[in-house]
Amino acid sequence: MNYENRFCILANSMKMIIKNISKIVQVCRGNQKFIQSKHLDSVNTIDDGYIEIEDSKIKDFGSMKDWRGIDDWNNTEIIDAEGGCVYPSFCDSHTHLVFSEPRQNEFILRIKGHSYEEIAKKGGGILNSAESLAKISEDELYEISLQRLNNAVKFGTGAIEIKSGYGLSLSSEMKILRVIRRLKENTEVKIKSTLLAAHAVPKKFLGKKEDYIKLIIEKIIPAISYEKLADYIDVFCEKNYFDIHDTDKILKCGIKYGLKPKIHVNQFNSFGGIKTAIKNNAISVDHLEVTNDQDIEYLKKSNTIATLLPSCSFFLNIPYAKAKKFISNNININLASDYNPGSSPSSNMNFVSSLGCIKLNLTPNQVINATTLNGAYAMEISDSFGSIDIGKKANFFITKKIPSYDYMQYSFGENCIKTVILNGKVVKQ
Ligand code: NIG
Ligand code: FE
Repeated sequence: MNYENRFCILANSMKMIIKNISKIVQVCRGNQKFIQSKHLDSVNTIDDGYIEIEDSKIKDFGSMKDWRGIDDWNNTEIIDAEGGCVYPSFCDSHTHLVFSEPRQNEFILRIKGHSYEEIAKKGGGILNSAESLAKISEDELYEISLQRLNNAVKFGTGAIEIKSGYGLSLSSEMKILRVIRRLKENTEVKIKSTLLAAHAVPKKFLGKKEDYIKLIIEKIIPAISYEKLADYIDVFCEKNYFDIHDTDKILKCGIKYGLKPKIHVNQFNSFGGIKTAIKNNAISVDHLEVTNDQDIEYLKKSNTIATLLPSCSFFLNIPYAKAKKFISNNININLASDYNPGSSPSSNMNFVSSLGCIKLNLTPNQVINATTLNGAYAMEISDSFGSIDIGKKANFFITKKIPSYDYMQYSFGENCIKTVILNGKVVKQ
């Protein structure tokens, strides 16, 4: 096993006190599952605070002046935040972190004027990634994926959803999902996994999409479900990929096998995918760069959260989702990285946050809610993640000393994080 890129676990004590925190950000008392859009601009904070951790969970927190101290100093580690802020870890609800090779060649082609869709039509894109994934061993795939996950942790991510979708065959989809399971078992990160066999029609099935859908329904979904390898079912509902009838069929089969829908939809075209997702009670609809009034009407009446992926728009130079419009219609939103080799080769959630402010015109408070508690909601884990609350998992990070908590979003591309704590353990960069 390659330990080189693993974090050094500095402590694994039963109890821990973080003191001298200039601001605890995103304090959410009570069992709030998500922040509605009309309240998205409000974030609770505590000045000059402390946090107590016991057995991987937040035991207590508050103002230093109210701190009662603790009875038993044995086995207690004290961490001085030295005036940094504490943020709950980012909850990144949409990634494709398990892939084989990066795709810089396509990046160059796009700079030279070829579009993402054009490159995909010529066998690049997802099919390119599927080719390299078929060749890599599971152990090798695990090691590079672990490095990528550790890198995401350095940038503040503490809970993440990871999709398959570069396999496009039973054995390769299994390979990805088994790697995700190993990441779940061997790291402190909270991980949810998604079956995205319907990411593209593989080369072998070109012109025979129906046969591939049959394979997904009759073989892939049952096998993945039997091994309990996925929590969710996803489909790339898009022109030249899967239409609304395919999407409906695949989602329904997933649901039958206990997988809840979370889908890629309205990235380039709007043709009814949102309605199909909502009818199937999707947890989230992701992308939404292109939406019409009807889509907004369906979303307004649903509990489905809109997952927006601004770093994909940034990288592909395509329109950004109309976040403000969703908010003014009180549609719930969250932001995620879409980390993948083709359309968003970065897991940096603070960069996503900055894009949320700069390109989606959201305030830092709106972005904080959208990248923490609402991201947790999009993975159905907001009872234990996404905010600072008693009884929640101790998943947070301490920043360097920064002038104010919104300096994080302002200082795009910088890493303001000094210490990461996951599952109550200190993980040093
Ligand atoms: O979310 N849109 C579909 N899937 C990915 C990109 C896949 C790729 O290009 O490798 C996305 O952007
Ligand atoms: Fe994606």
